[in-house]
Amino acid sequence: MLAYYDAWEHHTSEDAWASSWWEMSARVGDRIAGILGGAPGSVQVQPNASVALSSVISCFDFASDKRNKVVTSVLDFPSMSYIWEAQTQHGARVEIAPSDDGIIVPLPCILEAIDDQTALVALSHVSFRSSYRVDARAIVEKAHQHGAFVLLDVYQSAGALEFRASDWGVDFLIGGTIKWLCGGPACGYLYVRPDLQKELQPRLTGWVAHTAPFDFSPAPMRYDESVRRFAQGTPSIPALYSVLPGLQILEEVGVPTIQAESQRRTEWMIDFALERGWKVNSPRDVNQRGGSVMIYVDDGPAMVNRLAERKVFVDCRPGVGLRISPHFFNTDEEVREAMEILAELIQEHA
Ligand SMILES: Cc1ncc(COP(=O)(O)O)c(C=O)c1O
Repeated sequence: MLAYYDAWEHHTSEDAWASSWWEMSARVGDRIAGILGGAPGSVQVQPNASVALSSVISCFDFASDKRNKVVTSVLDFPSMSYIWEAQTQHGARVEIAPSDDGIIVPLPCILEAIDDQTALVALSHVSFRSSYRVDARAIVEKAHQHGAFVLLDVYQSAGALEFRASDWGVDFLIGGTIKWLCGGPACGYLYVRPDLQKELQPRLTGWVAHTAPFDFSPAPMRYDESVRRFAQGTPSIPALYSVLPGLQILEEVGVPTIQAESQRRTEWMIDFALERGWKVNSPRDVNQRGGSVMIYVDDGPAMVNRLAERKVFVDCRPGVGLRISPHFFNTDEEVREAMEILAELIQEHA
């Protein structure tokens, strides 16, 4: 952020675009692509994940296409459901794969919903609510057999779980940088499968998506050939500055190492919780889980405050309880201490 202030202090009116600003989106996009296992040129930064989804949606025409079904899940982030609800006014038929326990959406429920009328399967890779992780490969395989596209919201998995977008063959990934990527707010991203990019013309657009933006020419729109065709207007430059150091640290530590540490710790945390008879609202199977563990407590917000007073920082979600998310910078001792403090507090307030 100090580098941003310095640039802001010293630039003149036009030289910011001429020097670093223009390339910065591409640079950040390529660094994020590395984390997502995508090729350079596969990620366009976005204002946030909600806009990233809207950008993808704006490439579809649900009203005139018979292929107008969208498969989502009940464990997706609420933004997604609001955005899809709005699309029903434009002809989208939305099928929401259910969950009996609020923790898992059984894979068959997702796969059975995919048919020849499906345009897009759009799901959280890891749920913000339960940390449930869907089987990306199985979903992409079934969707592609039926000619449907797949969009995964990887906000809760990128940076904590190792995956390769290119190996999955997934069409779109969306997310943002303030969670496991250790960046600042207002830097979302959109990955688009490289061989798909030029087929798409997002109606949610702007001058930055034009092939010659500094010509300032009026319509007709000429989309850029690169992933920049999925941009809109001026990016949030401070947000771009805020994400680079986090990405660099993640690259140095390495996502495979982060995943291994995370899985070891979350396994230990779940054992600790189950031994005490607590209700764990995340999947028991490590292969069905992200980096968070949800533990039910009666009054989540009050417990979050009590824990914060003891310097244990977690959050909570309605109906689910605490969401505890150790990252690579935590030590085993910290994780153990946090769980012991939680045990004390649960006992005190039983
Ligand atoms: C899985 C998931 N998707 C989307 C969002 C919302 O992202 P944004 O605020 O960038 O639209 C969140 C935020 O917590 C999230 O957890």
